[in-house]
Amino acid sequence: MSAKYEATVTAPVNIAVIKYWGKRDSALILPTNSSLSVTLSQDHLSTRTTIRASPDFGKDRLWLNGVEEDIAASKRLINSITTARNLRAALEQKLLSEGAPAETVVPLSKWSLHVCSENNFPTAAGLASSASGYAALVKALGVLFDLPQSTSDLSRVARVGSGSACRSMFGGFVAWQAGVSDDGHDSFAVQVADRQHWPELQALILVASDKKKAISSTAGMQTTVETSELFAERVRSVVPKRMEAMQRAIAERDFGTFAEITMRDSNQFHAVCLDTYPPISYMNDISRSIVSLVHAFNAARGRVAAAYTYDAGPNAVIYALKDDMRDLVELVTYCFPRDDSTLLEAFYPNSFAIFDSADQVGQRLTRPEVAQLAETAGKFPPGSVRRIIHTEVGDGPRVLPDSESLLNDAGMPK
Ligand code: DP6
Repeated sequence: MSAKYEATVTAPVNIAVIKYWGKRDSALILPTNSSLSVTLSQDHLSTRTTIRASPDFGKDRLWLNGVEEDIAASKRLINSITTARNLRAALEQKLLSEGAPAETVVPLSKWSLHVCSENNFPTAAGLASSASGYAALVKALGVLFDLPQSTSDLSRVARVGSGSACRSMFGGFVAWQAGVSDDGHDSFAVQVADRQHWPELQALILVASDKKKAISSTAGMQTTVETSELFAERVRSVVPKRMEAMQRAIAERDFGTFAEITMRDSNQFHAVCLDTYPPISYMNDISRSIVSLVHAFNAARGRVAAAYTYDAGPNAVIYALKDDMRDLVELVTYCFPRDDSTLLEAFYPNSFAIFDSADQVGQRLTRPEVAQLAETAGKFPPGSVRRIIHTEVGDGPRVLPDSESLLNDAGMPK
């Protein structure tokens, strides 16, 4: 059998604590401001992608969660694949010009690709998958093509697929430097701290049920750039200060500051959405009630112990330190119980076994205190929060062995 040219990787989801919102160049995906995110564990949320190159494939093909997509219909897919291919072509040329024997330089840049990609979380969860999706695509291309570029260099390739994807090329805490140049060479992601830096930091994702289709980030942010006056002020004076303060808070593991900036930045992002004309609102009553609940929880703790943040949809992500998670989960599940049709295991998988340990550390709420705090949230029917994903800070894209490939011998999805 001839050699197989294939790579399989997984890439993580990231949730911004300083939000990216607005482009100064839509084709190259260059942002109006820098942003900063936390990469979440791939044990709970990740995209797995296999890419094979073969001279026998007639054209590039892509399957997403089992359904074939039309690559030609997506400029972003074409852009990221073409950019990676050009880097491979340059590498092949360099090797040949340095005298490498032609038979050792496989012309992968000229062969067609089969790409198969799957998320380990249900699409129905309403979680954005473009960041992990494009990061997995670009990481797999980098491995397949044996590209010598650094992770920050490759983050530029992920960026042309989807802006937030450049941050999923790293684990831990990641900044996307907006850059100023027109060609985008200075707009890439850098790691601010790795995941081991702050292992106590965890995240709780509350998937809020929502029937409405939100305005996509891509469309929404451009209307904001064109119409919001508040937005100009955010870009000019607020974000630069917050980027600095946030990096300091992370370096010092100062949760109080980290949490306050996170909440304020989420609030400001949603405020500029409302200042967009016509206005955009991504949060719903459940999202707003979780905001009140988190502030009530912090007041009861007498410190900022939890921080909410929302992207372009109603789902809440709550950051908190490990020792505060048991109370938070108790509170959230009390206010937003599952409906009868959802199994407990699916609603809250208890991945960290927080209810199983006998020795309790830190502060604990009593049952009456939980009930009292719940009053601030208001009453919602069971099932208003569909699912709770408890996770932690995670690592960057992982390369998997051949046995984990999503493609069969013929190069088709398994
Ligand atoms: C609200 O990265 O999805 O999640 O670059 O157009 O693909 P495109 O947008 P996308 O926007 C993400 C916006 C956000 C904030 C963030 O992740 O920083």
